[in-house]
Amino acid sequence: MMSSLSELNIVLGVTGGIAAYKAVELASSLKKLGAIVHVIMTKGATSFVTERLFQEITGQAVVSDMWEKTQFHVEHIALAKLADLMIVAPATANILAKAAAGIADDMLTTTLLATKAPVFYIPAMNTNMYENPVTQHNLMQLKKYGAYIIEPDSGYLVCGVEGKGRFPTSERIIADISSFLAKSKTLIGRKILVTAGGTREALDPVRFLGNRSTGRMGYAIAAEAAKRGADVCLVSGISELPCPENVRRLSVESAVQMRDAVLQEFDASDAVIKAAAVADYRPKTVADQKIKKKDGELVLTLVRNPDILQELGERKKKQILMGFAAETENIEEYAQDKMHRKNLDFIVANDVSKADAGFGTETNRIIIFERDGNKTEYPVLKKRILAGYILDKIEAAIEKQGDV
Ligand code: CTP
Repeated sequence: MMSSLSELNIVLGVTGGIAAYKAVELASSLKKLGAIVHVIMTKGATSFVTERLFQEITGQAVVSDMWEKTQFHVEHIALAKLADLMIVAPATANILAKAAAGIADDMLTTTLLATKAPVFYIPAMNTNMYENPVTQHNLMQLKKYGAYIIEPDSGYLVCGVEGKGRFPTSERIIADISSFLAKSKTLIGRKILVTAGGTREALDPVRFLGNRSTGRMGYAIAAEAAKRGADVCLVSGISELPCPENVRRLSVESAVQMRDAVLQEFDASDAVIKAAAVADYRPKTVADQKIKKKDGELVLTLVRNPDILQELGERKKKQILMGFAAETENIEEYAQDKMHRKNLDFIVANDVSKADAGFGTETNRIIIFERDGNKTEYPVLKKRILAGYILDKIEAAIEKQGDV
């Protein structure tokens, strides 16, 4: 049977709660819908259900104790990498706390920390444990890190009380995951142009003027857009990152080369996200031979580069335009000014003077300004997670445009 789960590698983490037996039914339903289910059990889970049962149901090897595995390193990275999706069901208060704190002391927690796949937690526990502020804080924290929580049902709990904490039905879990998957392919048929990395402006055959951009933010956006089904062209300046899967990359060096590549792609694009750090100036002349040192000062004359985004703003028809503003002061004022000056729909502002934001960091701290005056501020988050929020905005704008 074809379903949105067909051929998806789902890693199902089962932890030690009474609802562990319900995870057996969930594994069976996922398998019936065509998913390849790889079960990881915590030690606690094995005192409720046997490994053997999951093995029979899923037809796959079940991992329950990483230390038993001779090839542990290969194994934990293999499952983390293989996963298209991870589900932790039931998720005890204990696993939520460990995952929120980044503890990796068994196979499941290690896989959770190593995977880049979306993770769904399905908490099931005693009501008081669920409502305890510590558990609620951990759930919040996990959400902040980009995980999804499927809320428990209310009703009679095995511990004899009525309240929230019951493991939901497999139908509800599968419906939630399917709608997430459907939502996650929202950019099918859309053409997204992303620029990333820094530019290099040659001085002579061996020297250049450059900047500190590594391309991480733009590459994360391109990867996320491709995951959502878009046809993605990544015009990349200097970056050491590998080309994300299903992304067409055009590599360039200078601002002028970037302009040419961008203009070639622009007309067919639905949205342009300009995360590249483009040099505003380039040396007036590029020496044919290496410049030799002489006594006294060396004066370089720089001329203005084309402002690519400004040009796109002037040419734009239906395209949604998003620019980036890396600032060290007066962030809001400068960013808003850039948005209006360059005729953009959005500007993503970040304070590059902060250690946890900007160039070369894994994380970023951004504010997205919209043309209509809306402003959304995000906490410090991984660039991969922010890429999702950025694309949510782009998607909403494309959809809105389709309505008029
Ligand atoms: N940009 C561009 N072409 C340039 C310079 C910048 O397309 N020659 C784009 C960047 O990709 C980014 C946005 O414009 O999306 C903002 O870049 P920034 O250099 O911060 O803005 P400027 O307008 O150059 O303003 P200033 O240098 O005065 O801060």
